[in-house]
Parts: sequence; C-alpha cells; structure tokens
Amino acid sequence: MPVIKPDISDPVLLLEQHPNGVCLLRLNRPKQLNALNNALLGEISNQVSIANGDNDIRVIVITGSETVFAAGADINEMADLDMQGVLFDKRVAYWQTISSSQKPIVAVINGYAYGGGCELAMHADILIAGHNAKFAQPEIKLGIMPGAGGTQRLLHAVGKSLAMQMTLTGDPINAKQALTAGLISEICEPELSLERGLAVANKIAKQAQLAVSLIKNSITKAQDTDLATGLALERHAFCILAGTDDRNEGLQAFKEKRKPHYIGR
Ligand code: CAA
Repeated sequence: MPVIKPDISDPVLLLEQHPNGVCLLRLNRPKQLNALNNALLGEISNQVSIANGDNDIRVIVITGSETVFAAGADINEMADLDMQGVLFDKRVAYWQTISSSQKPIVAVINGYAYGGGCELAMHADILIAGHNAKFAQPEIKLGIMPGAGGTQRLLHAVGKSLAMQMTLTGDPINAKQALTAGLISEICEPELSLERGLAVANKIAKQAQLAVSLIKNSITKAQDTDLATGLALERHAFCILAGTDDRNEGLQAFKEKRKPHYIGR
C-alpha cells in the first residue's frame, strides 16, 4: 500500500490513499496499544478535517492493527490534567471534528477497543470487527467515567441495560456480543477485517456521493430527533436528490441496463 504521509519520523498515524477516494487512517502507537494521546487524536481529527475538505476523498477508514484498535485515552497524559485542564481540553474540539464528518467513516476493529478506543469506534458510521475484538468502557475502574460520548453513543447502540452494565462494571464484551447488541455490523477473521472494511468503503465510494452524504446526514440526525422531524428531514433530502444529475443517471442507467456513471452533481 502506498504510504503518502506522514512527514515525521515516528508517526502516530499512518495515512494511505486507496483507489476510488478511500482514505485509510491507521493508528500507530503499538507499544502503548494505540492509546489516544493528544498527538494521535489531534492527527485523526486533522486528517478527518482534510478529508472533508477534499472532493476526491469519499470514505474514511480508521483502523489499528490486527491485534489492537485502541486501549483508550492515554492515561499518563490524562493524569496530568486538573479540573480546569479537563474543562478546557483541546480534545473536545478534536472529537467534535471527527463526529461532524460529512464523509462516511468505517472503523475496522481488532483486539482492544477500550475507553476512548470504543468511543472512537462509535464515532464511525459502520463498525466491522475481527472476532478477537473486545469492547469496553472501563473508565469506572479508574474512578472516572466515559467523556467522549461513551455513555450516550453506547446507549443508542446497545440499549440501556447493556450500556449500564458495561459502563458501571467496566467489563468488556466480545465481538459476538457486540454484533448481537447492534454495536457492530459484521465479524470477520482479524487478518481479513481490513480487506473487508476497505471493500465496504470502496462500495460506498462508488455510489452517487450526494446521496451518500444525505443518507448519512439523515440517519445521523435521526438519532437526535423525534420520528416526525426525522421523516421530514428525510423527505427534504429525497426531494433535493430529485434535482441532481446523478439521480437522473442512476434511473436512466437502470432503464438502459448499464452501470451508472456518477459525477457527484
Ligand atoms: N494509556 C496509556 N498507556 C496504556 C494504555 C492507556 N490507555 N493502555 C495500555 N497502555 C500501555 C501500558 O501502560 C503498557 O505500557 P508499558 O509496556 O510501558 O508498561 C503497554 O501499553 C501495554 O499494556 P499492558 O501491559 O497493560 O497490556 P495487557 O495486554 O496486559 O493489558 C489492557 C491490556 C487490558 C488494555 C490494559 O493495558 C489496560 O487496562 N489499559 C487501560 C485501558 C483503559 O482503562 N482505558 C480507558 C482509558 S480512560 C478513557 O479512555 C477516557 C476517555 O476517553 C474520555
């Protein structure tokens, strides 16, 4: 795979550009189990921001290695912060950038996705895991609580009982439990998981991009609103798409029994 960045000697994040506008971000702090220190989280946020401003990038894939996704926020850095430090922590803006990505994010998770690692995975739109994946919000074991959306996103993803159990005991769930609970959409062999994640990303990258963007927006907003408002948003987006070239191309291609050629307008 062509590594086109980074430009520093010991990069915490590796960036790979794949065909069809798929951008792969690999967390790279193996000795610290990819713990999300400020440098790593800041670089993820930076690359998500760049991807969102680049028309040629259509889908972002975030992964760790075949044995670990991320073991949470960097506890050593966290230990240095007092209340004021936490209150004005720049990490809040980093998380905000990732969560507001208009480009779809696919997370490929193997091994530990703990604390901030689980929260990072839940910032993705699609979660694909190796069967060795373990998800946990273990902050309670440190006398703290999830602070990057863990309580909220876990509740949406797995429901109240399991969200409470995971956050109040700190105990992990395995990939099978995560699939059953709805936290992830697929399980595969760890060594095949990235290939699978890239294949899903590639499929999305080949779709009409305005439709991709509006579908993502519609589903994301639905989590924060009531059904009637969500349905109105969906209807509005559906009408907008009716005025696009890609919509005409998609329908015409079906009638002519050929593959559509989308131009993103
Ligand atoms: N921060 C900093 N360093 C970490 C880390 C973390 N979250 N997790 C692991 N490491 C480091 C370890 O200190 C260790 O470093 P040394 O070799 O220098 O001692 C190295 O990574 C390997 O870790 P272990 O030897 O502990 O590996 P293990 O396989 O025995 O255990 C583990 C793996 C169960 C994940 C264990 O490392 C662990 O419990 N880590 C902490 C998990 C955690 O509590 N995460 C939540 C952090 S708080 C948070 O995330 C809050 C938030 O976002 C708002």
